[in-house]
Amino acid sequence: MSPVPTAVSTLRPTDYVSQLRSKIEDKSAVVGVAGIGYVGLPLAVEKAKVGYQVFGYDRNAIRVAQINQGSNYIRDVVDEDLAKAVVSGKFVATTDFSTLGNCDVIVLCVPTPLTPNKDPDISHVRNVGAEVARHLRPGQLICLESTTYPGTTEEVLLPMFAAGGLVVGRDYFLAFSPERVDPGNKRYTTRNTNKVVGGVTSACLDVAATFYKQTIIDVLAVANPRVAEMTKVFENTFRAVNIALVNEMALLCDRMDIDIWAVMDAAATKPFGIMRFDPGPGVGGHCIPLDPFYLAWKARQYDFHTRFIELAGEINASMPYFVREKVLRTLNDRGRALKNARLLVLGIAYKKDIPDWRESPALKVIDILARDGADVTYHDPFVPSFQDEHGKVRQSIPLTAKALADADCVLITTDHTQTDWDFVVQHAQVIVDTRNATKNVSSRRDHIVLL
Ligand SMILES: NC(=O)c1ccc[n+]([C@@H]2O[C@H](COP(=O)([O-])OP(=O)(O)OC[C@H]3O[C@@H](n4cnc5c(N)ncnc54)[C@H](O)[C@@H]3O)[C@@H](O)[C@H]2O)c1
Repeated sequence: MSPVPTAVSTLRPTDYVSQLRSKIEDKSAVVGVAGIGYVGLPLAVEKAKVGYQVFGYDRNAIRVAQINQGSNYIRDVVDEDLAKAVVSGKFVATTDFSTLGNCDVIVLCVPTPLTPNKDPDISHVRNVGAEVARHLRPGQLICLESTTYPGTTEEVLLPMFAAGGLVVGRDYFLAFSPERVDPGNKRYTTRNTNKVVGGVTSACLDVAATFYKQTIIDVLAVANPRVAEMTKVFENTFRAVNIALVNEMALLCDRMDIDIWAVMDAAATKPFGIMRFDPGPGVGGHCIPLDPFYLAWKARQYDFHTRFIELAGEINASMPYFVREKVLRTLNDRGRALKNARLLVLGIAYKKDIPDWRESPALKVIDILARDGADVTYHDPFVPSFQDEHGKVRQSIPLTAKALADADCVLITTDHTQTDWDFVVQHAQVIVDTRNATKNVSSRRDHIVLL
């Protein structure tokens, strides 16, 4: 393990900005990443790749051990990049925060889930913030990257850090910079996705922007952390609302017997004033179903009711029930009941070509159908097994001609690129396709029911 720098104590306060800036620029700064998951691991590897000594801190000892063995668990990270960083000693993972506490730059990438009542659960930010506060020393930069409501950096972290007597912007630096990673996106990676940064003071912004510029092509400085926090929740709210709009259109098109996919294809040809969103079985992942509720919760503190967010949440949450209705009608047309029907669900991941099934609408769809007495199995090449909310572990079954033919209905919930959709259509009795995954299949179209 490489040595961790000891505390800097001989500098005058005004020197900390220039000292940290030059350490960041010449890569002698030691970087700590707290929370080494979907966001933290790619960040840590990127920083190690350009020459920083990086320490990753996580409370999950299994993840820490995996990293130290060079074993990758995030698809967006290139296996060789991780292995190289670990073997060279440039990236070391630990469950001991004190290692991180000595770093020059500490980036916080811990989860920000919702409570069962859909209120923000920032306990992970508070917990890791308390660790930082215990170890805070002059000359450090702390950046929060977790998605959260506007105000978290200055209302939650800043008071914790200020309690120790150090002055922000003079002795240490604090900023918020949201992560925008789009898992599975090959075109936009950490490096070429613009990064927004807001510092508590101009000196905080200065060092934080310098830090991000080392690995990211475009860094956009905004006035303060609240602007950066609001930018991130707005971006995800924008997606949630637009997806809800097309989902509502899909419900209407179903009632009017109009092909929603043909409408979307046609609308997308307009060269200006439109942006394509597709309907589907609902929204999933760690961001879109959760983040707008962070904003809605904070808005209530200001006597403000975020009607678009509530409505979008309601429509998107209703989609698994509409999928159930589609399956029910499809079976009914064939003289079958949902009870005891054999259903094969294709896709558990919340979107194509990734293994992430957190908050996936497929889980809800399966739960609803199983509650109605259907015999549900699933196939997902990226998700070999998962545990449903009742604790039942389900295993992916192989996608064979027999498995397809045996199902009374095949339900497509994720449009993974590698799936042979011709093969699926060729062997299935009937298909309910919620993603238009079968759009390029020309045979047996009368056996396909689109959302
Ligand atoms: N996954 C995405 O695509 C994405 C994109 C943009 C922003 N975000 C945001 O980034 C944040 C992190 O998300 P993620 O997807 O990387 O989560 P994750 O669950 O993949 O990783 C978080 C890691 O933090 C660890 N952790 C939790 N509490 C900790 C603590 N107190 N101390 C140390 N480690 C702790 C967990 O063990 C886990 O390994 C969230 O706020 C999320 O909303 C995620």
